[in-house]
Amino acid sequence: PVIILASCQSTEYPIDHEQLGKDERIVIRFSHVVGEDTPKGMAARKFAELVKERSNGLIEVQVFSNGTLYKDGEEMNALSRGDIQMIAPAISKLTEIVPEISVFDLPFAFYTLDEVHEYVQSETGKKLTDKLKNHNLLVTGLWDSGFKQISNSIRPIEHYSDLEGLRMRIMPSDILAKQFTTLNAESKRIDFNTVFNQLQKGNVDGQENTLTNITSKNLYSLQNYLTISNHGYLGYFLLFNYEFWNSLSSDVQQLLTETLQEVQQWEWQHTKKMDQEKLQDIKRCECIQLHYLSEEDKLEWEEKLEPVYDYYREHYSDRYIEALPKFQD
Ligand code: LMR
Repeated sequence: PVIILASCQSTEYPIDHEQLGKDERIVIRFSHVVGEDTPKGMAARKFAELVKERSNGLIEVQVFSNGTLYKDGEEMNALSRGDIQMIAPAISKLTEIVPEISVFDLPFAFYTLDEVHEYVQSETGKKLTDKLKNHNLLVTGLWDSGFKQISNSIRPIEHYSDLEGLRMRIMPSDILAKQFTTLNAESKRIDFNTVFNQLQKGNVDGQENTLTNITSKNLYSLQNYLTISNHGYLGYFLLFNYEFWNSLSSDVQQLLTETLQEVQQWEWQHTKKMDQEKLQDIKRCECIQLHYLSEEDKLEWEEKLEPVYDYYREHYSDRYIEALPKFQD
């Protein structure tokens, strides 16, 4: 089993049925929590279509979107039990199992998506993803959602001090909690599927997320202000139940691996495009006040947020921070 981020030669498709394991149909149930009109939703569908085509229908990837099969907070257990075979959770949601993975949650850890891709493919990145094998989880790829922006219903966020006292929804990650407490805001861990309700009820004032998530769940209809801060990365590890993966023949593994590699390249390009489109949609709708952090502002925020890095160093390890692209010459 491999982490399938390096490029490899492609095989001719469709592959031989006999090699596929005595004509038995293989069903891969793939559950995720976002809408269809998102990078993850679209890449999951594309993956399912390509696998079906290339295996002549012998391998079927059944995609369940929007948390209809398992919700946020349920899908990981369902994968471990083997009720489903594949998920693509936000990396932040893996930090409860492997806390060191929260290096991806550090504010301003990465300035570009290419930097994230390089880091994940580096020796350090592999050490991190390998830790998930101890939990019966195999990482077979990385999909982007993009960089997070900050929305809220109380006031424009321009200076970091504007966040003081606000109640912000976060994904379950100590580093994300620390990020907001460092800025004197409160943080609440809330499942993705209930964010809309919780904002509507006024149980939280705001949240951080990527533009495709903010628009596909219509969160911006409930919020008055949106700051384009690009302060943190949101992406997904493509996870298989490791036992299930090991039960597959090497031909099937190869077909899946190569298809995932191809879809990953497509997903990375597509995410950038979609993110830009959603920003244009938001500008056009004039339904939310937009603010942009300047490069200067960002440096100020980054400096203010240094204690989050200290927290990570104290609790986990220096090595994963030291290997971040921004600390290389
Ligand atoms: C969130 O909970 O905000 C995101 O992880 C949702 C997703 O999967 O993109």
